[in-house]
Amino acid sequence: MSADDEWINRSQLMIERWIAEDLDRPEPLPGRIIEAMRYSALAGGKRLRPLLLLAAAEYLKIPADRVKPAALAIEYVHTYSLIHDDLPAMDNDDLRRGKPTNHKVFGEALAILAGDGLLTEAFAKLAQLTQDDFPAQNVLYAVAGLAHASGAHGLIAGQTADLAAEHHNIGLSALEALHAKKTGAIFEAACQIPAWLTGNRGAAAGLQGFGSHFGLAFQIVDDILNVIGDSVIMGKSTGTDVSLDKATYPRVVGIDAAWKMAYHHQNLAEESLDKAVGQADWLLALLKRAVNRSA
Ligand code: IPE
Ligand code: IPE
Ligand code: MG
Ligand code: MG
Repeated sequence: MSADDEWINRSQLMIERWIAEDLDRPEPLPGRIIEAMRYSALAGGKRLRPLLLLAAAEYLKIPADRVKPAALAIEYVHTYSLIHDDLPAMDNDDLRRGKPTNHKVFGEALAILAGDGLLTEAFAKLAQLTQDDFPAQNVLYAVAGLAHASGAHGLIAGQTADLAAEHHNIGLSALEALHAKKTGAIFEAACQIPAWLTGNRGAAAGLQGFGSHFGLAFQIVDDILNVIGDSVIMGKSTGTDVSLDKATYPRVVGIDAAWKMAYHHQNLAEESLDKAVGQADWLLALLKRAVNRSA
């Protein structure tokens, strides 16, 4: 196994353990809210966003333990977005991370609340970072940054545009903007949070470029896999974008051109990294894995 694979596997296991320990809490009241949150958070995602955050921390010479609450925060925002994305009112999906979607098991109301619970918890986690030696003003900057990336200027804007574009012809630049918000914004935040926490504005700019192109490459591949991928390997349904008549790269430019654009954003992501700041090995390994994936 290569050193890159070894780091990724080890870090994935560490993230799994962090989540399991963090959500190992008694239910505050009768109901199943923590169970519903645990169900999706521990369903075995790839953990790409917290891995990116840890890789960016490593790049900036910050030990992984110090950014643990931030790694949990970014994965909680992502998992909440998946629970809500799968709801009948949105993409109406039955399968996620190889298991029935949250609302299929817990019902729609609890699925909405489980998403709300994870999203809210994410910001509680980030705020904890003031206890871990990061200056409060830097932590506030990170809280504001993640809120911006998750909110109506970021992920929510992208999800809104994604729904609005169903059954509509949109051009390539509108599609790129949609994907940059829907998916890119959270990848950008994942890469920048360690730089924000240490007040390293120079590194944050390079990491933002890396995260933004990483996010686009990742979502283009996700669009392609929805057409050509294997549902069992991916743990989610395929063919759904065509059924819902979603705006995707394969629909707008075709599969071959979509691959070319994914590789183009991979190159741009690599170019965005300022190699002088530190060893970017893990960031580059994650990028390669995100583009050359089958799940
Ligand atoms: C799925 O993200 C949603 C997209 C933005 C395409 P991932 O493919 O990272 O999902 P998990 O976390 O591995 O389940
Ligand atoms: C998911 O996008 C993006 C977010 C959850 C913000 P998609 O709807 O394209 O992804 P999948 O195919 O359901 O994972
Ligand atoms: Mg969607
Ligand atoms: Mg979806």
